[in-house]
Formats: sequence, structure tokens, C-alpha cells
Amino acid sequence: MDTDHRVDASDLDRDPLRQLDEWLREARAAEEPMPEAMCLATASLDGRPSARYVLMRGSDEGVVFFTDYGSDKAADLRENPRAAAVFHWHLPVHRQVRLSGAVAKVTAEESDRYWATRPPASRRSAVASHQSSVVAGRQELEAAVAALGDAEPARPDRWGGYRILPAAVEFWEEGANRLHDRFRYLRHGDVWRVDRLSP
Ligand SMILES: Cc1cc2nc3c(=O)[nH]c(=O)nc-3n(C[C@H](O)[C@H](O)[C@H](O)COP(=O)(O)O)c2cc1C
Repeated sequence: MDTDHRVDASDLDRDPLRQLDEWLREARAAEEPMPEAMCLATASLDGRPSARYVLMRGSDEGVVFFTDYGSDKAADLRENPRAAAVFHWHLPVHRQVRLSGAVAKVTAEESDRYWATRPPASRRSAVASHQSSVVAGRQELEAAVAALGDAEPARPDRWGGYRILPAAVEFWEEGANRLHDRFRYLRHGDVWRVDRLSP
């Protein structure tokens, strides 16, 4: 790994989501496995935290992922519509990006558009699975999928996307002798303020 690499504020885009896209592009080009995987943290209203990986499926004014609106994470987000997420890559250099902010459902049209890109077998699995509910055995799930035959099911209302609208985004890159580079963006209205943080 190239530990001589340095990040300066002048290297960074003024918009943290454009900067995230750039680092993602570099991770993909370097063949990082699953660069879109991000660990998503939510918390219930009474403060119980919970984390799991999801796949980032796009970024615009926020970061979008898709899931089951009946899942445990969705129950947290109904009570407490805020989340944090973190990416971690080794390629092309050792990097981490964290973000946190308010979360809102994407529109039904956006969910439909993404649903249409999923292979039919993945759509059938999503229809057969009520994410985070207890099942008696794998057989139950396989029977529910088999019952759908070759159908290309429409998106169930309980499946769709969320958008995290970041209020804070932090870029971390490994430096020599653990003197890492960290830059934190904080949103102030329409303006992002960027500060270098001590590692
Ligand atoms: C790399 C990776 C990517 C995943 N992507 C998604 C995803 O995009 N959406 C999703 O609902 N679950 C995804 N999962 C499964 C979740 O980690 C989790 O098991 C599931 O969403 C249920 O979480 P919950 O019970 O906290 O709601 C992924 C798991 C892994 C390991």
C-alpha cells in the first residue's frame, strides 16, 4: 500500500457527495470488492443502536439504499429517522468515509425504477421474504419462492428505498506511522464547512 499518499484540503471537492463518488470510482477502478457496501447504523427511540451492511445504490443530494420497509432497520427509522453509515476500502489506498444525517423514504417512482433493474429471481426472493421476521426453516422461504413460479412480480409496497441526507461527512485516509488524514464536512445551510481533524 502506498502510505506516502497525502490528502490536502485542496484535493477535495467542495461537495462531499461528489467527493464520495470520486473515491468510490477510484475503489471500483482498483477492483475493491463490493465498494458500495456501507455499514448502516440506526437507533430506536429509546437509544438501542443497531448496525448492518447495505448496498449504496446511488447518490444525489443524499445516499440511497433499498430494503424492506417491514425490517428491523425500518422500524428504527420510523421511530427515529436518522442514520449513520460508513464505507471502508483497501483499494487503491486504505480509506474510510463516514456520513450521518436525516433519513427519508425515496418516492415510489424511484423505488419502482430500481425494482425494475433487479433480476426477476431477486424480485421473487424479496416478495417471498419478510425481512427480519422469524422463519421456521429455509424450506419455508424456498416454498414461498417456488409458489411464485416464473412470475416477474410488481414491487410490494413494503419494499423500497431510503435516502440519507448527510449533515456531516468525514473522509479518512491512512497515513504513514498512523498520522492519518481526516477531513470533516459539516453542513451549514447550503454551505459545507471543511475542517482537518487530528487522527
Ligand atoms: C455486503 C452486504 C450488503 C447488503 N445489502 C443489503 C441491502 O442493500 N439491503 C438490505 O435490506 N439488506 C442488505 N444486506 C443484509 C443486511 O445486512 C441485513 O441482514 C438485513 O437488511 C436485515 O437487517 P435489519 O434486521 O437490521 O433490518 C446486506 C448484507 C451484506 C453483508
